[in-house]
Amino acid sequence: MRVGMLTSGGDCQSLNATMRGVAKTLYNQRKDVEIIGFIEGYRGLIYEDYRIMKSKDFSGILTNGGTILGTSRQPFKLMRVPDENGLDKVEAMKNTYKKLKLDCLVVLGGNGSQKTTNLLRQEGLNVIGLPKTIDNDLWGTDVTFGFQSAINLATQTIDCIHTTAASHGRVFIVEIMGHKVGWLTLHAGIAGGADIILVPEIPYDINKVAAAVNKRAKEGKRFSIIAVAEGAISKEQAALSKKEYKKYIATRQYPSISYEIGAKISELTGQEVRVAVPGHMQRGGSPCPYDRVLSTRLGAAAGKMILDGEFGYLVGMKNNHIAKIPLADVAGKLKMIQPDDEMVQEAKLMGISFGD
Ligand code: F6P
Repeated sequence: MRVGMLTSGGDCQSLNATMRGVAKTLYNQRKDVEIIGFIEGYRGLIYEDYRIMKSKDFSGILTNGGTILGTSRQPFKLMRVPDENGLDKVEAMKNTYKKLKLDCLVVLGGNGSQKTTNLLRQEGLNVIGLPKTIDNDLWGTDVTFGFQSAINLATQTIDCIHTTAASHGRVFIVEIMGHKVGWLTLHAGIAGGADIILVPEIPYDINKVAAAVNKRAKEGKRFSIIAVAEGAISKEQAALSKKEYKKYIATRQYPSISYEIGAKISELTGQEVRVAVPGHMQRGGSPCPYDRVLSTRLGAAAGKMILDGEFGYLVGMKNNHIAKIPLADVAGKLKMIQPDDEMVQEAKLMGISFGD
């Protein structure tokens, strides 16, 4: 049996742990398993860049962040566009699969990557998706691997910022990863005790954010912590057309939304403001124990599905049980925060402002 495997899109802490789960299950259950690891995601599948893996390649990697196969971003919208040499990428991927006589392809990837997995399914390949992303925005699964590890790191950042903010009596903006969705910001913001949480799904009014900061100052609180998602957006920006918003991003005088918010809060409240951006640190380092368990479970479940010949699914979790979600349902949908989400409402009850 020959199984192809690749890791695609932005990395996260628990990719190796997941691949190990799949591989150990397969090697343990069958003697004739050969795993082909494609280098740097779909690029390896397109250009026949691969490694024949050995069982020992998957040993000792449970705790290692990153990916032993490397990864790259191959945007879905360009998959049907020939490369600079006129190569049809979809045909090339199918040819590699056939040439290597693969029985299936396992894709560890987020939203965009699983769209391509679904495309390959539609093209007749046996595929299985595994839900990778620190953003936790894959539709159909309650959790994705990488999310908890990233929450831990983002929370640690907020914890560190808390002590210095309190000492100096400053307003601190902590920018958390997430361009389209705010799950990471919401969870880390709550775990880190942020006073204000700004996420892309709930456009903010800067005057309300400033009012929340002023209210704290009036109550004698010497500092405020604002957790801001990379993709946070004001009500005015949300009202722009796609074209106008693109123009605003291209001409924005600040490196990111956090700095823009910081400048406005300083102007509106007269308080001293600082911005902290942990950036890619949130995707790095060792997976947390929760992710190691989740990855191992998902990997083992995917291994079993390969052995049983069940393809075309994303292997996810629903109510703490393994769930097989048809890739056709997952592709192209984002799991986003709803303004009436329980967690948002609970946070609001406690006085956390979302600036809306
Ligand atoms: O999708 C994961 C993610 O980490 C997002 O949260 C973030 O906005 C983006 O990737 C950053 O991408 P890159 O690593 O390409 O800068």
